[in-house]
Amino acid sequence: MGEIRKIGILTGGGDAPGLNAVIRAVVKGAILHHKVRVIGIMDGFSGLVENHARELTLTDVRGILPRGGTILGTTNRGNPFEYVERLKDGTERIVDASGAAKETFERHGLDALIVIGGDGTLAIGHRLMQEHGIPVVGVPKTIDNDLAATDRTFGFATAVEVATDALDRLHTTAESHHRIMLLEVMGREAGWIALHSGMAGGADVILIPEIPFTLEPVVAKVWARQNRGSAFSIVVVAEGAKPAGGEQVYAAVDPTTGWKRLGGLSYQLAPQLQEKTGLEVRVTVLGHIQRGGTPSAEDRILGTRFGSEALELAMAGRFGNMVALKGERIEAVPIENAINRLKLVDPEGQEVATARRAGVVFGDEDPDEVLDSE
Ligand code: F6P
Repeated sequence: MGEIRKIGILTGGGDAPGLNAVIRAVVKGAILHHKVRVIGIMDGFSGLVENHARELTLTDVRGILPRGGTILGTTNRGNPFEYVERLKDGTERIVDASGAAKETFERHGLDALIVIGGDGTLAIGHRLMQEHGIPVVGVPKTIDNDLAATDRTFGFATAVEVATDALDRLHTTAESHHRIMLLEVMGREAGWIALHSGMAGGADVILIPEIPFTLEPVVAKVWARQNRGSAFSIVVVAEGAKPAGGEQVYAAVDPTTGWKRLGGLSYQLAPQLQEKTGLEVRVTVLGHIQRGGTPSAEDRILGTRFGSEALELAMAGRFGNMVALKGERIEAVPIENAINRLKLVDPEGQEVATARRAGVVFGDEDPDEVLDSE
């Protein structure tokens, strides 16, 4: 392995609060400690395909710690192996542009590439290493907290904070109007944001993908609360939740890549709940508000630790690994252990059990027991 003198860095997939902390830690550690240069690849892997890159200096990372998003830009349509090419007539087609990605890597004289992303981005990084020999180090990122092989991803804590704040606000107006409030949160196939914000925000019902639901126990919970003088209820709906025997709800499907974006379940549930309870129901879809804006202190620290340790892995030539939080420590784990394997909420686990003991309904209960327990 040759000496490491120049390192590329990119952010791929959906952004997450804390990305800039990672970039800052890499740039500062590289320039100040290791005396190596850093090239920022713009807009995820599409910057690698299109040769859109520039050197990052200490000035570039000054003041970015509290900033959400990513100064490098990102996209979830930049997979070099299935690159979306826009034709002159406005149509799109998918091509293999991974050779162009390799050329950009070589043109800039890069010795390593730090790839910050979720399972999709890390899988692409892994494939670029296997098929084109690009030496990759991974940094796991997602607000969904669904990556196997790491206890936490940065962005999750901020998303939970934002969703919890939304629940606090919905509580007051729900109580005034005697309404049922549905808050739909992100998380894809994982119910982590819903579970944690629901627990922190005192939700009465939490619907998550890992526990298929029926509306009967939800209605029973609303009635039980009504009977003891609380004529309002708060329901957190994970965007990926699904009714028992039913399907997830999608907001949109990308016509070229086939990528399906979840969203809209609460709008389907609202009229059903209104009819079954006789109470007014309102829907709030939190959307990208939970992904944007200032990262929490926890996410800044985790992002900084991940960035710093990822740089150390690159400098030590430990490619094919990603950084991961294991307990209190950041460790190196093979990227292949993190991809294609989701970390989901355990329906039988301690956190769900804790919430159930506090009266939270997940939609799989016997409705009579929900009424009896109040
Ligand atoms: O993976 C992060 C995430 O925010 C998911 O929770 C959500 O389903 C998806 O990205 C939204 O994607 P987009 O940014 O393309 O709307």
